[in-house]
Amino acid sequence: MAANEHPSPTAMSGRRKLHVKSYGCQMNVYDSHRMADTLAREGFIESPAEDADLLILNTCHIREKAAEKVYSELGRIRQLKDAAAHEGRRVIIAIAGCVAQAEGEEIIRRAPFVDLVVGPQNYHRLPALLARAERDGKIVDTEFAVEDKFEHLAAPTPEATRARGVSAFVTVQEGCDKFCTFCVVPYTRGAETSRPVAKILAEAERLTQAGVREITLIGQNVNAYHGAGPDGRPHTLGMLLHALAETPDLARLRYATSHPTDMDDSLIAAHRDLAKLMPQLHLPVQSGSDRILAAMNRRHTRTDYLAVIARLRAARPDMAFTSDFIVGFPGETEDDFRATLRIIDEVGYAGAFSFKYSPRPGTPAADDENQVDEVVKVERLARLQAAVEHRQTTFISGCVGRTFDVLFEKVGRLQGQLVGRSPYLHPVQVMAPTSMIGTIATVTITGIGSNSLFGTLAHSLHLDAARPALADVGA
Ligand code: 5AD
Ligand code: SF4
Repeated sequence: MAANEHPSPTAMSGRRKLHVKSYGCQMNVYDSHRMADTLAREGFIESPAEDADLLILNTCHIREKAAEKVYSELGRIRQLKDAAAHEGRRVIIAIAGCVAQAEGEEIIRRAPFVDLVVGPQNYHRLPALLARAERDGKIVDTEFAVEDKFEHLAAPTPEATRARGVSAFVTVQEGCDKFCTFCVVPYTRGAETSRPVAKILAEAERLTQAGVREITLIGQNVNAYHGAGPDGRPHTLGMLLHALAETPDLARLRYATSHPTDMDDSLIAAHRDLAKLMPQLHLPVQSGSDRILAAMNRRHTRTDYLAVIARLRAARPDMAFTSDFIVGFPGETEDDFRATLRIIDEVGYAGAFSFKYSPRPGTPAADDENQVDEVVKVERLARLQAAVEHRQTTFISGCVGRTFDVLFEKVGRLQGQLVGRSPYLHPVQVMAPTSMIGTIATVTITGIGSNSLFGTLAHSLHLDAARPALADVGA
């Protein structure tokens, strides 16, 4: 019997309230939704944190004192739990995500009012774990499960999908085998695994039937994807994208986050061949210095990276790129850092995330003796961010006067205004009727904000006027 087939007391005690607080990456957002979907089957409805009977913190461990932040948040949560206890109501506190995986028992030791600690590979066991925690007290489950959690996690109802909007994430791969020397992911998320093609196609079908128009395939190292195809042989991400592009009513595809060495021919061909695949790619380089890239175990040089960018631009000339950067990696000199500044201009990034190196216990770089002084890190981060901002402004300014297809997602702040996304993921604000939510229209960009665009409908007949708007789909 699968773990989540055990009847639990929660399933029998009617509607209880659940709040999942998500930190960190898109994978955590997806996981939080799947946890809520699985617990919905057990009778839980989502609520604000103050009213919750079950509070789950889905934590992130990637950078900067992550565990400490969770412990300080737990201080506040304890007050919630105590206040509820005063009213005679029991609140169950669960810690999920990568801090749960990394800290395990330590969480219960430092915060004894926590009831359940569950690692990212075990979310499908939540209903059973919850029942055990309620019955027997503290439970910690951070084993890497042998069974496929996706087989057991519930799919969202069409109503839940609709409430989450027209753009959805689908996890296609998890974990990472790259072992960059700064990164905890291979330890917290485990070895690289890919979901079978058929499961992903079925999920895409279900989502689009509920009104989703854009799917972002996600994974810690998404382009290492190698899930089993219908013939049992592994599919690359490029092959998967080709198959997904056939999904009726699916208008847009994206994927994140990619490793430069896994940009294979089939993926580059997908960018050339598939109009549905958006011309935007997050391709982290981390550093522009070959010496630092080697110390990071990135497995590529600056030249290799630039060659990948050139191939993608040749396949799809309107591609825009974003990146992640780490400054102050152990041993980084001023010259190394300048090489990073130079690559920003060479690629002409449309934007980037940048971080000060943060030693993660258990990773090789944390033990390096040549740690960079905090003052230097702060100074380099400011210089890097100024360079990125300059590029970002150049990109945004260049959008004025262009026309983009915009996927309308929701109502804007002003009366009569909708907010959509450009192919490059920028929010675009346009005066347009609510009935256009879920449709794609051609928009002329007339102005810019700090990282957003303003536009007008290029012509009154939008691209897929024949399709019902999301607001009209379903019940
Ligand atoms: N210190 C700083 N930044 C880090 N990242 C990952 N690990 C660390 C670390 N130890 C950054 C990388 C990665 C992004 C998700 O987080 O840039 O691409
Ligand atoms: Fe971490 Fe990405 Fe490197 Fe994997 S490829 S170890 S997830 S930075």
